[in-house]
Amino acid sequence: MAADATQEELQAGRGYEALFVPALFAPWCDHVTGGAGIADGAHVLDVACGTGVLTRAARERTKNSGRVVGLDPAPGMIAAAREVEPNIEWILGNAEDLPLEDGSFDCVISQFGMMFFQDIQKAAQEMYRVTKPGGRLAVAIWYTIDQNPAYRDIVAVLEEHVSPEAANSVRLPFSLGDPDEVVTILSRAGFDGVAFETKSVQATFPSTRTMVEVELRGWLPLFDIHLSEEKIAEVLVQSDVRLSKYATPTGNAVFPTTAYVMTAHKPE
Ligand SMILES: C[S@@+](CC[C@H](N)C(=O)[O-])C[C@H]1O[C@@H](n2cnc3c(N)ncnc32)[C@H](O)[C@@H]1O
Repeated sequence: MAADATQEELQAGRGYEALFVPALFAPWCDHVTGGAGIADGAHVLDVACGTGVLTRAARERTKNSGRVVGLDPAPGMIAAAREVEPNIEWILGNAEDLPLEDGSFDCVISQFGMMFFQDIQKAAQEMYRVTKPGGRLAVAIWYTIDQNPAYRDIVAVLEEHVSPEAANSVRLPFSLGDPDEVVTILSRAGFDGVAFETKSVQATFPSTRTMVEVELRGWLPLFDIHLSEEKIAEVLVQSDVRLSKYATPTGNAVFPTTAYVMTAHKPE
């Protein structure tokens, strides 16, 4: 797999870490690390680690002992992850073909990545393969976009003022909203005790404009959709009315997000 990130990819990774992670992804880490039951000294793999917010949380749970690995196929994500925390093992790779030994992890974790995998069944088999007998899996996945209405509103803005491709890129993370589908996939891969819990977490952005700006500057570039500064300014003005319902009196944008955390274990 190609190694170094281009400057543009690194910028996109940094943008993701600065804009998305604190507002949207960091609040989920406790649910996932808790679901995996990560203990001191555990060997943990974070699949689709992005810039590594969950990987870092896992490392804290191991009390900085054991082995913690973050894997992602996007060079810009891995480069940004390494900038934030150079002392974690960051690996470029795909979930469908993990470059890792059989039975080498006590816990395999992943948040908000599975919906992007090209072959989810193959990825589940790979996650099973690298888990130790008796080891645990915990994966967070968004429910549908109708169960995450703030994103339905952002999609409507993009549909109207950017392009169908831009709108679809924001729909994609909500495409695995049926937990029963994932129960079947994980059971077929060999996992036992497959179960899920529904969780709701509040996302907090500095403003409603930032909610949209992170999509325009931090998400669309990951799909090679790059907008001019003029276009970004126009879309932000257009989004004001539709997103005003999420504005708090202090100017923040706050809205609920809903996902399920799927847990399972590999038989002894
Ligand atoms: C929404 S981000 C989530 C990142 C991180 N888990 C977090 O909580 O911030 C989705 C990630 O899935 C990764 N991804 C996409 N396809 C993948 C694949 N086939 N295997 C592993 N990761 C993949 C992307 O590169 C991206 O970093």
